[in-house]
Amino acid sequence: MSDTQARIFTGLQPSGKLHIGNYFGSLKPMADLFESHQGLLMIADYHALTSLRRPAQLRENIIDVVKDYIAVGINPTNSTIFKQSDVPEHTELAWIFDCLVTVPFLQQAHAYKDKVAKGLEANAGLFTYPMLMAADILLYDTDIVPVGKDQQQHVEYAREAAAKFNLAFGPTFKEPKEMIQEEVAIVPGTDGKKMSKSYGNTIPLFASKADIAAAVMNIVTDSTGERPENVYAIHKLFKSEAELAGLYEEKKGKYKDLKEALIEDIEAFVAPMRAKRDNITDEEVKKVLAEGAAKARTIASAKMADVRKKVGVSL
Ligand code: ADP
Ligand code: TRP
Repeated sequence: MSDTQARIFTGLQPSGKLHIGNYFGSLKPMADLFESHQGLLMIADYHALTSLRRPAQLRENIIDVVKDYIAVGINPTNSTIFKQSDVPEHTELAWIFDCLVTVPFLQQAHAYKDKVAKGLEANAGLFTYPMLMAADILLYDTDIVPVGKDQQQHVEYAREAAAKFNLAFGPTFKEPKEMIQEEVAIVPGTDGKKMSKSYGNTIPLFASKADIAAAVMNIVTDSTGERPENVYAIHKLFKSEAELAGLYEEKKGKYKDLKEALIEDIEAFVAPMRAKRDNITDEEVKKVLAEGAAKARTIASAKMADVRKKVGVSL
């Protein structure tokens, strides 16, 4: 099997507004990968329910995330975009995996431990989260799972679930591999630390030019250096260092001018994607999800029919 024939599957939490760190660290590499592979992109709405109890917010986030991914270049006619809750086989298979793994095994999940350490409620859904994610991946005979580093252990859990099932009931599931975008640089925020929504140092991706400008004007610059490093570090994402050399030489020490140049460069980059996003209606999103769910379900229901036979519940 050549790499381009490998089936890729990934899931996304519908978790709100994106920033340019998300774009360069996650959406752009994902869009590139989906251009060359047959892939499934799943909106993990049931995973989101482990921490979100605001239905209007969840609905809005689901619509938003689909628009975001289409706007950055995932083509819904080549890829299957669907939401987890539309394919009930996911929660069904998760239950079977829950019955195969032990409590101490799940207790070792870093993501679970981190969330509980941060004060999140340790609900049973959060605890068994990795087995729902294993079901997501394994239902589709997935070869490759592109994820951020924080999700690597969850893909290992999926391999474990596959191995445990295969051992107990005979060969059924493929063991998937994670694909971590290692070479992607960490995008710095307006204060020079990693850009992250939890640090409040983001430059929004699909915001208006005015909002982008406000964020850029907030970039922390120290008055000693000639080159405002925090501005430059972000600018480099949008223009080559060769292109920037002249500008930063000419505007040496003129931080406001350099920030204004950065605003224009971000705007030029973002405007076409934002226009594309603005043209996608909620109705189109619903249609994409309905078509995606039908395609996903065809695969998932065939797999589950086999699983039900193997475990002995199909008579
Ligand atoms: P945040 O830190 O803002 O909460 P998430 O944890 O939701 O971001 O990250 C979503 C995706 O975006 C992940 O794949 C992550 O690796 C990527 N990402 C987030 N922030 C950055 C950043 N500053 N630089 C590069 N990639 C990032
Ligand atoms: N847990 C992942 C995250 O928070 C989202 C996710 C759910 C996922 N199911 C998946 C990712 C399956 C890859 C494969 O980012």
